[in-house]
Formats: sequence, structure tokens, C-alpha cells
Amino acid sequence: MISLMSYGNYWRLCRRIFQQHFNYESAKNYRPIMYEKVHLYLSALLESPDNFASHNKMLSTSFTTSIMYGYQIKSVDDPLIAAANRSLFLAAGLVTLNGSIVNLFPFLARIPLWLSGPMKSRRVAAEAEELVKYMQESMLMFVNGSIKSGTAVPSLMTDFVEKHITSPASPEKEKAMQDVALTTYAGATGTTIAFTSTFLYLMATHPEVQRKAQAEIDRVIVSSRLPEFEDRPALLYLEAIYREVMRWNQSLPLALPHTSTEDDYYKGYFIPKGTAVFGNVWAMNHDENIYAEPFVFKPERFFEENGELNKNDRILNYGFGRRICVGKAVASSFVWLTMACTLASFNIGKAKDEFGNEVEPNGEYGTEGLITHKTEYKCSILPRSQTHRDIILAEKDTSVGAAV
Ligand code: HEM
Repeated sequence: MISLMSYGNYWRLCRRIFQQHFNYESAKNYRPIMYEKVHLYLSALLESPDNFASHNKMLSTSFTTSIMYGYQIKSVDDPLIAAANRSLFLAAGLVTLNGSIVNLFPFLARIPLWLSGPMKSRRVAAEAEELVKYMQESMLMFVNGSIKSGTAVPSLMTDFVEKHITSPASPEKEKAMQDVALTTYAGATGTTIAFTSTFLYLMATHPEVQRKAQAEIDRVIVSSRLPEFEDRPALLYLEAIYREVMRWNQSLPLALPHTSTEDDYYKGYFIPKGTAVFGNVWAMNHDENIYAEPFVFKPERFFEENGELNKNDRILNYGFGRRICVGKAVASSFVWLTMACTLASFNIGKAKDEFGNEVEPNGEYGTEGLITHKTEYKCSILPRSQTHRDIILAEKDTSVGAAV
């Protein structure tokens, strides 16, 4: 996991690869895949709206495996995905301070596994490592196989392997590519699944926000089509919803833990070298001095009185400084398209019981690994009209395979 690596030459090599592939210009290359996956998501919602949680997972997972390996998953139960998720789950449990005694006494990581006795965390780490190896090797086999059979789909790994068929890359570069792909899987899936789940929950519980956003979409997109990236600058209220969903809840409330590399002072506090430092994103996003009534979901807070969006467009959820989320341009486009197309197509509301009474969705949050996410809840997702239903079905037909 590059996000947890110390600063150094290898980290810089990996970060450079990330930046080449995920900067604002490169992020545009993923748009065809985003359209395809989001349009498929809409048709899945149309078909079985009650399974929206599973569709959310499918949307994020299939997008990431597609851009990283050209690997098209059929379901979220795919064995490679199960292995990747389990390894992340195991590893995430170890990286918090109380996750392992090794975090307090790092020399314990170097004693042989057979001597580690009751140190459960060493065995958990070994299991996670095995699963990661299995996932990386299987994905590489898949990529090589698809290139040989001529069925390869453009992706970060297929492009890399194809480029180095005649002049093999150095083992370090090859390892870096594999680590980049795996770290991206870890960085991109849980966070975007958590976003979509919170977004749907907030739409179901805030009908007035939803109607305002739909009115804006209908005003901007007059012909019978789904929203496209070119529409983004004109959809100001939707932009405010994006900022407010991000502010209201964070998938990584403390970002990721990092370690100070030298002694430092901050506002009179001494921070010795080697201190674990967490950025409290949650506290910043709920600072009453900046956000009045911070627990209220209110996209209007991002507007000036003249109706323009205000300058507060920094999404703290992406972390800070040198370690800031390197996929934020991709993330912003991906979740924006998901929100825009979902709101353009569906009315999201509270589910009803057998007597037709609305059921309040549970508002609880849980933690899985490092990710904070909405716990299971019910909501109703219905197409806004027959025309909207027809558009979804038509877009699904034109999208499938279009990105390839
Ligand atoms: C709502 C969506 C997302 C949120 C809130 C988010 C947030 C974050 C945060 C907080 C970090 C850690 C920053 C730190 O270490 O302090 C991170 C790292 C990372 N994110 Fe994102 N992320 C999102 C989506 C994505 C997407 C879609 C991608 C890829 C296309 C991505 C790729 C990565 C990678 C590769 C890292 C590790 C970077 C490194 O270690 O240098 N993220 N993300």
C-alpha cells in the first residue's frame, strides 16, 4: 500500500505513476468507462431498486477493475474481488495505533513468524499478504492472457504490459505498477461506495433538495438525454450537493495515518520524529465557525447571496499536502456523474411498509476496515416517468462495450 509507505525513492516512483494517470487531463480518458458503468448502474436500479446497495458496490468495483486491469467483473462476488476485499479488511484492522503491537514496537515486525507466538497481528498480516499476492498474480495472468488472445481492453496494466513486450521493464518498475494498481483499488472502491450510499440516503431524507436539483437538471438538459460532463459548469446546485455530501459525512474521517519524519513544532506543540499524525477531517468539516448548524444537510451554504457558488470548493475528504488523494480528479468526475444521472432519472424517497406508510431510513453509520459507511437502510428508487425509463434503457444499449 503506497499510501502507508515512507517517503523515499520508491514512493516517489509510484506517486509519479499515479500522477501521470490520474491528473486532471488524464482523468478525462476514463470518461467513456464512467459513462458505461454509470449507465449500467441506472439500468440495474431500474430492474431491482431494492438491491441498490449491491448495485453501488458493483458500480465502484467494476469501474476500478476496468481502469486498472481491463477486468470486467460480472458480480461483486467475483473471487478476485473477494480476495482483494478480505485483504483490505484484514490490513485495515492493523494500521490504527491499537491495531497491532507492532505499531508501538516496530522491531517486532522483524522476528520470524514462527517465533511470533501469540502475536495475532503478524498472522493476520501474513494472511493479508497471501491474498494480495493471489490477487496481483491472478490479475497479471488475466492481463497477459487477454493480450495474447487479442481481447485486451485498454487499462493501466494492459497498456504497461503491452508497452514492455519487446523491451521488458525493470523489476522495480513492474512492482511499482502492480502496487499502484492495488493501491488504486483500495483507494477508489470503498470511498466511492460510501459516497453513493450517503448520497442516496440524503436524497431520500431531503426531498426538497432533490426536487431543486431535478428542476435545475431539467432546465439545463432540455433534450431527452442523460447528463454529460459538459453540463457540469451549468449545474451549480448539483455542485453544491457534491460539496455538501462530502462535508456532511466522510468515508475516511481521520484521512490516513502518517508519521512525522523529523522533530517539529506546531502552534507550540512539540511533535517528535516518528509520531503518528491523523488529520481530523471530520472536525474540520463540522467546524461551527465555518459551517453554521454543521449537522444539517444544506447545500445552500455553498452559495453567495448573488446566487454564485462561494469559493469554499476545497474537499477536505481528499486529505492534505503531499499525500493528498491522487485520484481526486477521477473521483470528483465519477461521483458527479453518478449523482447527476441518478437524480435526472429517478425519484428517491423513503420506503413504504405493507400499509403504505413511509419508513424512516436508519441514519446509522458503521466502520469496515478504515472506511466509515452508511449501515444498511431501505429507500424507494423509482423512474421519474416512462420517458426517463426509456432513456435509461436506450443509454444502456448504446453504452455496453462502448468504452472498449
Ligand atoms: C469519494 C471518493 C474518494 C475519497 C473521499 C478519497 C479520499 C482519499 C484519502 C483521504 C486518501 C489518503 C490521503 C492521505 O494519505 O492522507 C486517499 C488516497 C488515495 N486515493 Fe483517494 N479518495 C476517493 C476516491 C479515489 C479514486 C476514485 C481513486 C482512483 C481513481 C483514488 C485513488 C487514491 C490513491 C491511489 C490513494 C493513495 C495515494 C498515495 O498514497 O500516494 N481515490 N484517497
